Parts: sequence; structure tokens; C-alpha cells
Amino acid sequence: MKTEVLGTATPEALEAAIACAVGRLKSGDIVALPTETVYGLAADATDVAAVLRIFEAKARPRFDPLIVHLPSPSALNSVIQSKIALTEIEYKLTEHFWPGPFTLVLSRNSVIPDIVVSGLPTVALRVSAHPLFGEIVRRLGRPIAAPSANRFGNVSPTSAADVLAELEFRIPLIVDGGRTEHGVESTIVAVRDGRIEILRPGPITEEQLREFAPVHRATNPGSPDAPGQLPSHYAPTTPMILCDDLALYAPHPGRRIGALAWREPNELDFAESRVLSRSGDLREAGANLFRQLRELDAANLDLIVAEAVPEVGLGHAIMDRLRRAATKR
Ligand code: TXA
Ligand code: MG
Repeated sequence: MKTEVLGTATPEALEAAIACAVGRLKSGDIVALPTETVYGLAADATDVAAVLRIFEAKARPRFDPLIVHLPSPSALNSVIQSKIALTEIEYKLTEHFWPGPFTLVLSRNSVIPDIVVSGLPTVALRVSAHPLFGEIVRRLGRPIAAPSANRFGNVSPTSAADVLAELEFRIPLIVDGGRTEHGVESTIVAVRDGRIEILRPGPITEEQLREFAPVHRATNPGSPDAPGQLPSHYAPTTPMILCDDLALYAPHPGRRIGALAWREPNELDFAESRVLSRSGDLREAGANLFRQLRELDAANLDLIVAEAVPEVGLGHAIMDRLRRAATKR
């Protein structure tokens, strides 16, 4: 299958790309679309055959449920159990963080087919703040199932070129909306017993969530609460390790070792190095993380050594991705 990449640089190109993507989605195809977090591989969430194509293209196991994207918060009623009202905390979270990089797990109704959620009684829901994605989901008029547009276990794509590298010949269309803003996937939470449980850390931080209720960080990544949160995920193919301070790491002579530094450029003898954020800005580091991991992965290295970032704010999400990337498959 040939993969077409449509640009959006002029108003005419943008309109043509949106119309093409909506047409494809209506006819049961899958298309890669930008969101404010990472690129997603989209299908009409109510179309079982289309959703199956997502699993096939990504080589994703069926036990790993997909995130469903709604056109607006008011579309919630069409996909959740009408008998189970939103709790006050849930309602406030959707009011505050939608549209945005925030995903909430709720009890679903039968509009969302079993295949989307791997048979779970719940569904993970998000309203994207990306204008292009938002326009497409509104014109489609149906919820969109969209996991990150990478092959299963790989680093999520933050540009159309990344998607092409992952899924060329496996999907018909990529809409190029430039580099994504956050660069890490949405924060996923569930509200249980009056507490907010973070199932996946992301751009909406623990500190922000604490304003709404006590927060609990799910510590067991492989738990059935978040079936896709496998210990090894977001992984480059080059072996990778994580260290506290790159300055203390002595590269082995004769081995090609790459460095992913937190803020200091590296004077040491690394074959390649990247700096997440020279100014020590975690937002900038998040936006650079997956791109730099991809660049290092393409540099023909024997090993990537990544440096820990401070575990505050977005640092939790970055460290979560670094730990998974450093876990052997
Ligand atoms: O930023 C994002 O969230 C991106 C963009 C494209 O929206 N999407 C994304 O989807 O990261 P994906 O498929 O790569 O991650 C989905 C994860 C699953 O692996 C699982 O951990 C969790 O969401 N999930 C989905 N449904 C769930 C459910 N019903 N209960 C608990 N966790 C769920
Ligand atoms: Mg993913």
C-alpha cells in the first residue's frame, strides 16, 4: 500500500487534507493525524473493521485497549453508561482539562465496540486540543479511536516523518501538521474512591491534578488497570541505560556510545550526544525526548546512555518514558 503524506501549509492544502482524511475515515480507512501530544493512528471508533486495521498496522496485541477521542466534552453522553453519573471530581477534571492532553477512564456503553477496549467495561476518553484533529473529529461526527501512530512497543511519533518511518506501506494517509507540541502522550487517569489515580503520567502533572482531589500514582506499570502500560515500551532498538549523572559515566573505549543529556552538553567521549534542554526546561525536554531518542537510535550506536531528569512536574512523565525505554524487551 502506498502511503500518501498531505501537507497543511496553505489554507487550501489544509482544507484538502481535512476533507481527504474525513472521507477516508468515513469509508473505514485508517489515517495518521497530528494531536497536541503525539501523532495518532485514527479510525472511526464505532467501525469494528476499521479498528481492526489499527491493530494490524501497528502489530498491536488485542489486549491493549485504545484511547477514544471525542469531538467535544458534551459528546461524553453518547459513549458512557447513562446510569452511572460522572462524579463531581470527574466532571471538574473534564471541565478543566478538555480539550487537552488529558485522558479519563470511565464506564462505557455499547456504542464503543469490545475490540476498541479489549473487552474492558471502561473506555479511556480524550478531547484533543489540536485544531486540525478537532476539526476532523467534528466533521466525522463520530468518536475516533487513535493510539500513537508507531509500531507496537516503539517510540511514539512526533512528526509526519516519524510516522512514515514507522508505518510506510502499512497505512494509506498521513496528514502532516508539523511537530507536535508536547511530545509525550496524554496523562491517563481514573477516579476511584474519591482519589485520582494516574495510570500514565503525561503533560497534565500530578501537581495540577492535586487541586481537584488527592492523587495516587499507580506504581505497578504492568497492572491490569492499564493493560498497555507494559514495563518495556517507547523503546529504541539500540540498547539503552539510564544513569543519574552523565558526568560520572565513563564510556568504554572502542564502543560507540550515545548520550541523551538532561541539560549540560557533554564534553566526554561520546560518539553522538543530544541535550534535552540546555535551560533546564522540562516542557522543552518533553518536546525533544522522542525525537532525540529516534535520532540516537538511527546513529548506529552500541549503547544509548540517558541521564535522569528531576522528578517534578512533567519530569514524572519523562522519567516514566526513559525507564520503559531502558527496559529490555
Ligand atoms: O496522547 C495520547 O494519549 C495519544 C494520542 C494519539 O491521543 N494516544 C495514545 O494512545 O497514547 P496509546 O494507544 O498509545 O495508549 C493507550 C493506552 C493503553 O496502552 C492503556 O495503557 C490505556 O491507554 N488505556 C486505554 N484504555 C484503557 C482503559 N479502559 N483502562 C485503562 N487504561 C486504558
Ligand atoms: Mg502508544
